[in-house]
Amino acid sequence: MPKLLTVYYSHTGTTKKLAEQIHGKLGGDVFELVPADAYPQDMGEVIKRGMQEITDGVSVALQGNPPDAGGYGIIAAGTPNWCSTLAPPLTTYLKSQNLSGKTLAVFVTHGRGGLGHIPEDLQKLFPEAKLTEVFDGNSPDGLDAWLKIVGAPSHSPS
Ligand SMILES: Cc1cc2nc3c(=O)[nH]c(=O)nc-3n(C[C@H](O)[C@H](O)[C@H](O)COP(=O)(O)O)c2cc1C
Repeated sequence: MPKLLTVYYSHTGTTKKLAEQIHGKLGGDVFELVPADAYPQDMGEVIKRGMQEITDGVSVALQGNPPDAGGYGIIAAGTPNWCSTLAPPLTTYLKSQNLSGKTLAVFVTHGRGGLGHIPEDLQKLFPEAKLTEVFDGNSPDGLDAWLKIVGAPSHSPS
């Protein structure tokens, strides 16, 4: 049975809540990506910094020791939609890993912009991974069906 990792970035807690739900259903390990230099709480400022990091393709320094994806077969990776793409902490983490042959199952929460161009960006960035359908976390009713697509065995938390 492939080992499972749920890894995510969340600025205001929405993606974190979904990640905890997914981890509860999947079991396996979970890791929250925390930038070493915290993003500002002010919406205008965080958008300014986020947009600049996305445009410049900045690698964001992360706190702690994010797990080596090498030990896992399925990586469920969560992010808010930032400027129609992945938030830089998740992009940074995924780019630092060898995802060859790994199932990469991305879940996204958003304002009103849906998945933006996240599915296309994932195909460009991580063609070596086995990408599943991207899960729209603003429509949580589809979660169990998505987890089946991910190929993860269902897990009953004890
Ligand atoms: C810097 C920044 C950029 C954002 N860009 C978008 C966007 O392009 N489209 C969208 O629908 N929501 C956008 N949002 C809203 C978030 O995706 C949404 O609130 C998300 O659920 C927040 O998740 P979190 O609480 O885990 O951080 C943006 C939020 C921030 C802070």
